[in-house]
Amino acid sequence: MSLFSQSFPPSPTYTEKDVPDLSGKVYLVTGGYSGVGLELCRVLYHKGGRVVIVGRSQESYEAAVEDIKSNPGETKDSKPGSLEFVKVDLVDLTTIKPAIEEFLTTTERLDVAWYNAGVMGPPVGSKTKQNYELQWGTNVVAHFALHSLLTPILTSTASSLSPGSVRAIWVSSIMHTRSPMPYGINFDDVNYASTPSVSSWLTYSQSKAGAVILADEYAKRSVANAPLTQDGKKNHVISISLNPGNLKTNLQRHGSKLQSFFVDWILYPQRNGGLTELYAGLAPETGAEEFNGGYVIPFGRKGKIATHVEKGLTEAGTGKILWEQLEKEVKPYL
Ligand SMILES: NC(=O)c1ccc[n+]([C@@H]2O[C@H](COP(=O)([O-])OP(=O)(O)OC[C@H]3O[C@@H](n4cnc5c(N)ncnc54)[C@H](OP(=O)(O)O)[C@@H]3O)[C@@H](O)[C@H]2O)c1
Repeated sequence: MSLFSQSFPPSPTYTEKDVPDLSGKVYLVTGGYSGVGLELCRVLYHKGGRVVIVGRSQESYEAAVEDIKSNPGETKDSKPGSLEFVKVDLVDLTTIKPAIEEFLTTTERLDVAWYNAGVMGPPVGSKTKQNYELQWGTNVVAHFALHSLLTPILTSTASSLSPGSVRAIWVSSIMHTRSPMPYGINFDDVNYASTPSVSSWLTYSQSKAGAVILADEYAKRSVANAPLTQDGKKNHVISISLNPGNLKTNLQRHGSKLQSFFVDWILYPQRNGGLTELYAGLAPETGAEEFNGGYVIPFGRKGKIATHVEKGLTEAGTGKILWEQLEKEVKPYL
């Protein structure tokens, strides 16, 4: 029933008209120049936010700027903010630190980071520069490295603002329900190096389980590590994973024409995915404590993660295991 309702969801719950003036706030979106991320950035920009798009193509960024500036979408009374580009190629961990360090010299706050960029279904055997299976390396490892570099500014911004305003949003997918048994991650061989011909659907699904697991683990760490403010409070970053919905975007670029023919009719406009990400990052209700570590489903509702992934978190400690493994792996690049 839940899978059905995620595939054919009710209308978006949080839309442009619900978003307040975002002047003075800083937002970072990986993959913000296309698809779901583009729609999210459109709203953030026309509501006055400073929008930082992290991506690898200057050309795609410039096309997005033109598109966003000339088209406010459903935002009435646009109050333009600003757009900027931070060039990072998530397939190469060495590109993350220099670019993010430079960005960090330009800001004293970061209100929300959306870890949105992703790759799905590349040719079997595709790898990152550091030899990770492409989807694991891009969707999980690189975002973990990026998040490690952003954690201090997210933490300090959270400690100076009202509870629930600062958030880290990890973009997953309904496909995380198809991730490897028993707990979502094949810890023995996360890159499937010993079975390289494994379906890229399985490895994509595993990467999307990674997003859910990291969101849950960071939710706990963010509470535990929140600094005590001068007035004795401990405001922490809220961490949420989400399924943006099944959407018409470039994500299917590696699929065949035949696949597109059969799948297209169940896909929704990419704006709906943008609104789901907006709900997770900005809606007042998702800033509540019960959403920390939670999972948002299309197009802006609280959902439940897959039972086997949940079991891994609660019975096998997969959050801690994955976090510590990634910490070791990305350390040379931070
Ligand atoms: N569309 C759906 O139905 C759907 C369903 C569930 C979940 N999602 C998730 O939603 C997120 C957004 O996807 P989308 O549908 O909007 O697809 P999209 O239009 O293809 O957007 C993906 C973005 O990720 C960027 N990206 C990929 N590899 C990168 C790299 N190595 N370095 C930097 N950026 C990179 C892409 O940039 P380039 O153009 O430069 O490659 C692009 O901007 C993904 O995490 C996806 O898994 C989508």
